[in-house]
Formats: sequence, structure tokens, C-alpha cells
Amino acid sequence: MGSYNNLYLLSNLATLYIVLYLNILMYQYIINGKQKLSGEITVYGDKNTALKLIPATILSDEPCEVSNVPDITDVKIMIQIMQDLGTKVEKVDESTYIFDNSTINKTKIDASLAKKLRASTVLIGPMLAKFGEVSIPHPGGCIIGKRPIDIHLEAFKKLGAEIKADEEYYHITTSRLKGAKIIPHSISVTGTENIIMAACLAEGETVVEYAACEPSVIQLADFLNSRGAKIEGAGNPRIKITGVDSLKGGDVEVIPDRIEAGTFIILGALCGDINVKNLNPAHLEVFLEMLSQAGVKMERGENNIKVYHSPNLKATSMTTSAYPGFPTDLQAPFTLLMTQAQGISMIHETILEGRLSYTEWLNMMGANIIPCDPHRVLVSGPTPLYGKKIVSPDIRAGIALVMASLIAQGQSHIDNIDLVDRGYANLDERLTSLGASIVRNQIN
Ligand code: EPZ
Repeated sequence: MGSYNNLYLLSNLATLYIVLYLNILMYQYIINGKQKLSGEITVYGDKNTALKLIPATILSDEPCEVSNVPDITDVKIMIQIMQDLGTKVEKVDESTYIFDNSTINKTKIDASLAKKLRASTVLIGPMLAKFGEVSIPHPGGCIIGKRPIDIHLEAFKKLGAEIKADEEYYHITTSRLKGAKIIPHSISVTGTENIIMAACLAEGETVVEYAACEPSVIQLADFLNSRGAKIEGAGNPRIKITGVDSLKGGDVEVIPDRIEAGTFIILGALCGDINVKNLNPAHLEVFLEMLSQAGVKMERGENNIKVYHSPNLKATSMTTSAYPGFPTDLQAPFTLLMTQAQGISMIHETILEGRLSYTEWLNMMGANIIPCDPHRVLVSGPTPLYGKKIVSPDIRAGIALVMASLIAQGQSHIDNIDLVDRGYANLDERLTSLGASIVRNQIN
């Protein structure tokens, strides 16, 4: 694991310097640690739900309004991709958009934009269902594992699509999708969501066994049903979709981002009393239980959680799993929390194989994290952390390194923070309002 991680760190640094050489604007955070934080922070709309509700508007020619949309890079890229296809987008206010897809005039998705956004994969389902064809480049996204899309492609073939691939694009066509029984080999969130969107307008009935149960899947199904779709069982491993001829327009308000909420709850446990507002605790039950077992002091409200600085943490082992299990997107913040807990914790990342490499950066800051294999590390704590020059490897590891810098002794410089921006809007302003010493600095 050591040599793998060193290679990983080198690849991070190499990427950073290539980007600098290409003169792409780069920013870093400069953070002074050991600040006591206090106050309240409001959770924004869920990134991974907004990234499906927006393309789901393609399924009808009538306008759809999507509100509580987070102001983050990934969402901006998704909107740019759809505008490039011909969608008319009206920005009603800073978090509300109206999408009119009656003007879509092409089915080839812009490669330069799609490669920046792995979630662009979820455009296939609605485009295929609505237009019978779509060309999409091989997906991009964070470097946290292979991230294949075989589940998506196999499902579209079962639904009657033909797939041709050239060196850059998948060209997917169908005369009309036909309902089928689909059993993915793994639980896939976007795979489930793509199938639902494709099957909405297919002929006949589609059944998905082994479906993802995430809140994003439930809200997507609710939104589609409100527009005339016939989807039963979303939120359960078995979903049935009965195809209809067309969908109407509709309005939807994006649910709160449970990953952002969980991140800020851990921040409060590490740095001091924070009231985390506008969240749905029911979306975080297993996560909250693990934090309670670790000794985090919290008061739970209907849509907020007041979390107190919790210095006497107990080592707690954790395994990530599909919803309602412990979310893989909160693994890095939880691992950081365990570096401050008394004893040894085993962290088992079962979902994505590239999602523990950031721990090398935490070790450079003073943590004592021992790699066991690509899916498991042992964390021995508590250890004091010291400010360092670090590079954010991906969205969720990036926020964990920001929080590590907030509790570290001394100053940290974190580069490559556009990755963090992809998941957390206005992060420096929001942390500053809690009392953090964090500055966004342009480095080229
Ligand atoms: C979604 O990614 C989220 N992204 C991820 O959040 C999240 O980490 C992940 O689900 C797991 O919960 C969005 O919703 C946009 P998967 P997704 O398909 O759907 C394997 C973040 O930071 N798999 O659920 O791409 C895959 O390798 C991001 O917000 C296949 O083998 O993940 C993985 O081991 C990161 N073939 C497992 O399934 C496929 O075709 C789960 O992946 C698809 C997936």
C-alpha cells in the first residue's frame, strides 16, 4: 500500500503542476488551525440529487422548475451540458432554475464538459427515452477508483438499446425502449437512477432487483411520478416502473444534502459547538448512531442538529455500505474524527477502492493511520496534527483535509481546492462565519 500511496501522492502533485503549466486558474486555501468554532451553518440542497433531478426534466417538453439547487461546480457543468444540447435555462434566483427542454436540438453530449463530470452518465437514460439516441464520452469524475459504467450499459441493452463505442464516445440508439427485468451485479446509485429515467417512457414494465435505496433515488421517483410516471418501490431494493407515453412538466425542491450535513456535524465535534440547520436526520440514522457510539455530543431537532465539541472520543470501527448504511462520502471525515479518538479504529471502505489514499496526507500531518489493504486502514489515536502543504485528491477527502487543517497546530496550504468547490458551495465564507481562519488564495 505504501508504494501505491506514494505513487498516488506523486500523481496528485503531477496533476497539480500540469494544471499550473496550462495556466488554468488555481486556488488554494490557507488555513490557521486550532480555531474554536461556534455558530450555525445551513445545509444546502443535495448535490447528488440535484444532479439527477435536472437531467430528469429532459423527459418532458413542458418546463420544470427545480429549486434549492446548490451553487456548486458540478451543477453548473450539468446545466452547461444541457444548454449546449439546446435546453433553455432561466435562473429565477440563486438556487432556483426553470428548464425548458422543448428546444433540445442535438443528442451528442459535449466531451470537454462531460469529462469533468462523472454524473453526466445520468443524461443517457432521459436522452435515450426521449430521443431514442445519445452520444456520450467515457465518463470523468474524481480519481477514487475505476468507476465503470457497465451496469448502466448492460441495463440499456436489456431495455433494447444498441451501443457502439469509438475511442472517445458511446453511441447509444433505440427505436423504442422495452421494459425488462434488470438485476445489476452491484448496487449502483446512478445506475438505478439511469434505469428509472430510461424505463419511464419504455413500452411495458421494468423491474429492477438490487436497486439503490438512497434518498436521491426516492426524490427522483417522486418527482417523476408527480409528472405522470408510474414508479413503485423507490427506496426499496425492488423497483417497478410501468412505461407511459409522455410526462408533464413539474416543480421540485431539492432535499437537503445529507453528506454536507454529516460533514458539518463532524466539524462541530472536532472544533466546537455548531448548530447544523436544514437537514433531515432520518437520512443519517446509521451515521448519527456511529457518532453517538464514538462519544460525539449532539442534540437532535426535527431539521437541525446541535453538535458540541467532543474531546473525549472513543475509537469506533466503521464499515461503509450502500444506503441506509454508513455513506462512503462521509468516510474521510469520519476517519479524520477517529484520528482524535482514544484507541484503534478499523475503517473498512467497501464501495470504492481508491477512497483511502488520502490517509497518506493525514499521516504527513501527524496522524497514525496504518494501511491494511486497498479497502481497510487502522487508525490509532488520539494524535496531534500539524499544518502542512497538501493537495486535495477528491471532493470528500478534500473537505476532510480542510477540517484536519482547522484542528492542526500551525498553518496549512491546501491546493487543488476546485475539487472541494465541486461539493461544498461558499465553503470559506461559511467556515469564516463560524470563526475559522481560512483564506482562498489564487496561486497562478
Ligand atoms: C454515486 O456515485 C455518488 N455520485 C457518489 O458520490 C457516491 O460515492 C456513490 O454513488 C456511492 O454511494 C452521484 O450520485 C453523482 P455507484 P456512482 O454506481 O453512482 C460499482 C461524491 O463525492 N459500479 O453507486 O457513480 C462501482 O465501482 C460522489 O458526491 C460498477 O461496477 O457510484 C462502485 O464500486 C463520489 N459498475 C459501486 O458499484 C457500474 O456501472 C457503487 O458505485 C457502476 C458502479
